[in-house]
Amino acid sequence: MGIPASTLEQIGQRLDLVEVIGGFVSLKRSGRNFKGLCPFHPEKSPSFMVYPAKQFFICYGCGAGGDLITFVMRHEHMEFKEAVQVLAEKAGIQVSFTTGGPSLANRPLYQAHETAAAFYHEKLTASPEGEPARAYLAHRGLTPETWKALRLGFALNRWDGLLTHAREQGMDPSLLERSGLAVRREGGEEAWYDRFRNRVLFPIWDQRGRVIAFGGRVLGEESGPKYLNSPETELYVKGRLLYGFHLASSAIREKDLGIVVEGYMDFASLYQAGIRNIVASMGTSLTPEQVQLIRRLTRHVVMIYDGDYAGEMATLRGLDLFLEAEMRVKVVGLPSGLDPDTFLAQAGLEEMLRTIRQSQDLFDYKLGLLTRRYDPKDLQGRIRISEEMLPTIKRVTNAIERGEYVKRLSEVLRVAETLIWSELGRVRKEGSAAPRGAARPEKVQPAAGMTVEESLAGLLLEEPGRVRQVEERLPLEAFQDAHVREILSRLRQMSQSGAIPPDGRTFLASLPREDSGAWEGRIARWLAWADLVVDKEGTLEELLGKVKEGQVRSSLEALQVSIRQAEAQGQERETAQLIAQYNTLMKSRLSGKGVA
Ligand code: UTP
Ligand code: MN
Repeated sequence: MGIPASTLEQIGQRLDLVEVIGGFVSLKRSGRNFKGLCPFHPEKSPSFMVYPAKQFFICYGCGAGGDLITFVMRHEHMEFKEAVQVLAEKAGIQVSFTTGGPSLANRPLYQAHETAAAFYHEKLTASPEGEPARAYLAHRGLTPETWKALRLGFALNRWDGLLTHAREQGMDPSLLERSGLAVRREGGEEAWYDRFRNRVLFPIWDQRGRVIAFGGRVLGEESGPKYLNSPETELYVKGRLLYGFHLASSAIREKDLGIVVEGYMDFASLYQAGIRNIVASMGTSLTPEQVQLIRRLTRHVVMIYDGDYAGEMATLRGLDLFLEAEMRVKVVGLPSGLDPDTFLAQAGLEEMLRTIRQSQDLFDYKLGLLTRRYDPKDLQGRIRISEEMLPTIKRVTNAIERGEYVKRLSEVLRVAETLIWSELGRVRKEGSAAPRGAARPEKVQPAAGMTVEESLAGLLLEEPGRVRQVEERLPLEAFQDAHVREILSRLRQMSQSGAIPPDGRTFLASLPREDSGAWEGRIARWLAWADLVVDKEGTLEELLGKVKEGQVRSSLEALQVSIRQAEAQGQERETAQLIAQYNTLMKSRLSGKGVA
């Protein structure tokens, strides 16, 4: 909310995409369009294209794409509003945001964190009370340069250290409370105490380097939780960010590799040793949002796990998220009892770098772990191993690679490949919910890396009038991709009110875009594909058929599961009914299109 459509229009009229991008990337003319080296991933030959007529850019190497605003958001790591502001200034337009949107309302919260970070840092580096913390960090091998680089801090061993300081600065304690830095005393009276006391503090930054939370470690091995973290606030949502991301992002992009560790301390010591393409997941398993953050910079990830964590299947499943995001993930399993920090201290940097270089493919790593845990000679063991491996293989999007894994699994388990294939067909992509990934439709690829639904959406955006053709054939629910559904539902509404946009650009301008740049990158890729399709009507028909087929197939799969359940529970009538449904569906499928 907040940005008037007219502002966006004016920006579009006054600024030229080629000119703006040309300020960052050296562009060469290529027919009607422009070409250059992609600023979003390292490359030697240009796959970054700018289309002046459509006012969008796309990289055929890494999939980045979108319009002017998206470009600025990604390139400058800005939020939508900031990018608009910057562009408006460039275009000489006055921006008047209608109401104080979230970022304006949050300004005091950023300020509170900034004040706190400066206060804590000063206490660590320059106060007499900071001595125990300095001694502790020195004992952990962290140098004062690192304290400074990571802006480490110390919370005094008092109930009102930060509170008193904040009051002196004229800051309302309730603001500290909203920031999670102070806690209100029970009993209702207006009294607070510091959340962080007698702890070394790691400021947690957002992608743009603003402090939005803290993690606080006890000095030494005292009782109580080792780390106390900020609670979730308006600024800080757990699992949305990676510790150290803004410090690491350019190194990750340059090296085309992101190293992921778990702990603040692991980050700090590796960072100090000069390993800069590193982020920390802050314990617990990875989230899809964290995966997307890294994916903006590279497709290659190495996870370095604590020796003890390695056995945790649940954590390992988090790694499947990388596969689902079409990334390459390798794993370093450290000797039991060691974490990256202690391994580095014991083995040295050379050895650390060597282990990173020799890290194992996720597949090998997981399979190795499983064959140590379950006996591949024993039937039960083989079943367990295949049950754990199949969901991982299912997530591998490249068909050749998937084939290779199936082959290797069949060798290890000593069963026929065809059996593995048929089991694979039955496995569902279970596990934690990925926002877009999990519900990804079946991949019958009409274009490299694009799903059927994406292609269909691309065609519709190219020629929105065709929405009627879709409407007649399929209900909205037939589509699994949330973005595609949203596009369809909007187009439908427009069509019903007789206001179909003449082309994709007009439609795009009406989309809610503040929430993510990725959304736009996807669309640009679809459009670039749709542009190339000659027989649009025929292709659309074909795609509709495939979506329909996908819908039938997933209903059949769901029915299979229900039948098995009903049968196991001895519900005879239920079972018979389900089987009848299954047969009807199966028949209509076979007669409809003759799909084997
Ligand atoms: P670790 O226990 O591996 O911590 O937890 P560490 O960073 O290696 O710290 P040292 O070496 O023991 O001092 C990994 C991460 O899990 C989160 C923190 O982000 C930590 O860095 N964690 C752990 C918590 O949030 N709370 C805890 O009590 C423990
Ligand atoms: Mn540690």
